[in-house]
Amino acid sequence: MIDFRAVAEKYDTPLYVYDFNHITRQYEKLKKAFSGRKSIISYAVKANSNLSVISHLADLGSGADCVSIGEVKRALSAGVPKYKIIFSGVGKRDDEIEEALKEDILLLNLESEAEMERVETIAKELGIQARISIRVNPNIDPKTHPYISTGLHENKFGVDIETAKRMYIRANNSDHLDPVGIHFHIGSQLTELDPIREASMIVADLVRSLAAIKIELKFFDVGGGLGIVYDDETTIEPYDYAQAILGTLHGLDMTVICEPGRFIVGNAGYFLTRVLYEKVNEGKRFIIVDGAMNDLLRPSLYNAWHRVEVAGKSGNESEADVVGPVCESGDFFAKKRMLPPTEHGDLVIVHSAGAYGFTMASNYNTRPRPAEVAIVDGKDRCIRQRETFEDMIRLEKMCL
Ligand code: LLP
Repeated sequence: MIDFRAVAEKYDTPLYVYDFNHITRQYEKLKKAFSGRKSIISYAVKANSNLSVISHLADLGSGADCVSIGEVKRALSAGVPKYKIIFSGVGKRDDEIEEALKEDILLLNLESEAEMERVETIAKELGIQARISIRVNPNIDPKTHPYISTGLHENKFGVDIETAKRMYIRANNSDHLDPVGIHFHIGSQLTELDPIREASMIVADLVRSLAAIKIELKFFDVGGGLGIVYDDETTIEPYDYAQAILGTLHGLDMTVICEPGRFIVGNAGYFLTRVLYEKVNEGKRFIIVDGAMNDLLRPSLYNAWHRVEVAGKSGNESEADVVGPVCESGDFFAKKRMLPPTEHGDLVIVHSAGAYGFTMASNYNTRPRPAEVAIVDGKDRCIRQRETFEDMIRLEKMCL
């Protein structure tokens, strides 16, 4: 049990707190689920890119799935071996491609023919062969929130099967491209297994048809997306997830790459914020806290549901919205929740905030981003200081 009030007292609020032992457990569960095969768990750095989080995972043996050269550099600085780092994303700048190739990371995931051309040209200039993987869009509805659904043709991600085939043939004939893998990712916060199994089947069939023309791929990258419990969702067990995927790979000797983000860090994280005051507008109760949408954007952006509790208080509950001080109606953490009466200084704990919390934070309203604290074996350690006003204006200039 984390003593949230003590941590909030020590580091002040708004604050992110991560239980590193939970991160360890989640990583181990998934790694074990794939133990029947060679596998790399490549943690999706975008979910929580704090260097301590990445290095903790690197110590456990994790790789890193990165979507910018900045994330690649984070992974390298945090000690992830380059042969476990992959670079994904629907658009990469030339300088990012060049740097990633020079770093000699495991592979680049490509999402279009045009991107492949750029990678080939840059690899040629460098006089090397680029290891690549192609993201296939299997046209499967993952049944998740439309903003985090990526596996349908109407989404901007990946290429269709026919295009992928063409790209593999072309890559295979190129002196500067080495097609080593195949990739799909149908969406995030997935809670149903069937879409994953179906996508995996479609992509495995493509791998087999490529093998028939002597294009032998080594890496089967199944993306991320495993959902977590925010409220009362029934989620997918890692074992069932792995079995569903492995069951489609008969006859193929491939290393499975999996890119979980949320599953690893989501429920390890808590966002702590203090009550400023309460008010009632025409019978509607608001609890106004010192955290805001700039700190934790998920409720505002996706209408995401996070469990909210007032530390050490219960009873006499009535319906309230928990809102931040930002001047936008979308600035809320919770709506219509039964919560006890609160007073100035009470601590509000927002659960499941470890993934896409701090990484999506901004300085909107010139609010400093929160500090981050790790709890390791019951001990707290600051892993990112709270920003200061000076930090926020450091790169700005007054032109007159
Ligand atoms: N691999 C690829 C190619 C991805 O696009 C993503 C997430 C992941 C792996 C990791 O997915 P995860 O295991 O975390 O579901 N900001 C949104 C989530 C966006 C996910 C983007 N892609 C949210 O707060 O729900």
